[in-house]
Amino acid sequence: MPVPREEFMSPIWKDGIFKDKVLFCTGGAGTICSMQVRAFVALGGNACIIGRNVEKTESGAKDIATVRPGSKVIGLGNVDVRDGQALKAAADKCAEELGGIDFAIAGAAGNFLAPMSQLSTNAFKSVMDIDALGSYNTAKACLPYLVESAKKHKNSGKSYPTGTGGRMIFISASFHYVGRALQAHVMAAKAAVDQISNAVAIEYGPYGITSNVITPGPIAKTEGMERLSRSDPETVERSKRSIPVGRWGEVKEIADATVFLFSEGASYINGTIMVVDGGQWRTSGAA
Ligand code: HXC
Repeated sequence: MPVPREEFMSPIWKDGIFKDKVLFCTGGAGTICSMQVRAFVALGGNACIIGRNVEKTESGAKDIATVRPGSKVIGLGNVDVRDGQALKAAADKCAEELGGIDFAIAGAAGNFLAPMSQLSTNAFKSVMDIDALGSYNTAKACLPYLVESAKKHKNSGKSYPTGTGGRMIFISASFHYVGRALQAHVMAAKAAVDQISNAVAIEYGPYGITSNVITPGPIAKTEGMERLSRSDPETVERSKRSIPVGRWGEVKEIADATVFLFSEGASYINGTIMVVDGGQWRTSGAA
């Protein structure tokens, strides 16, 4: 059964804005990234999602494809973002099967709560490698294709050509904007992710590429927040009270931010961080 559209994005977006464009997304079978990809595909695009787990990635791709008849969604499992060669091979396969890469999302991440006293060197390194090195590897694998896409876009001679291309989004977290216990590994890794996006924005802007970060706040029905809500209802209420808009976000609100940043309307937005958290990080602290 296809997921109804209003469950994963706002109805304001115009059908076909990503017609025949290709999105490459790491972590694309996860709760947040799969909705970002679903919105892109619903609006006319095709996609390739990457993950470590073969079954989860392949069935995730099949599920996303149900959103629009005729769409092409490939799931490449057994790809670890820490392995640059494997990621490059995945990007090459995506381009070969779908005709290029116009958009990329570096979404694969690892997280757990641990005090520094129980965080081994290897545990710290694992999250640094998945989040920071994995995002870097994603950019390196996709950028040659994004440059090609941006070139076509530039050659059209219009400042608002139909359909955009050459856009990259990195998924971050807000913990390091404010400071947060039990997240030393994630704060370090996501600070690096923000700066990798900035480096792409600066070095590839001249090629017509834009690179931006989306920082999701506490989003309901994600693995992390499910863990939190199982632990203690009072913690959940306290978390909601700490957010100026008074609630956790919905996954579709991250998908909407993605559609905007990939759309023509965001053509001059480059090297920025879009924090989608109801204003929480501006108050006492991150989720
Ligand atoms: C302390 C831990 C730990 C924990 C793992 N480690 N879990 N240390 N507390 N809870 C340590 C291990 O003991 C090991 O160190 C090292 O981390 C690597 O663990 P492996 O399992 O060998 O590594 P790997 O298979 O690569 O797994 C990576 C991972 C894992 C990050 C540790 O959790 C993972 O694959 N996660 C992917 C899914 C995920 O995390 N999704 C959340 C996305 S973000 P030693 O020293 O023993 O060798 C998100 C935001 C929510 O959800 C935020 C709120 C919580």
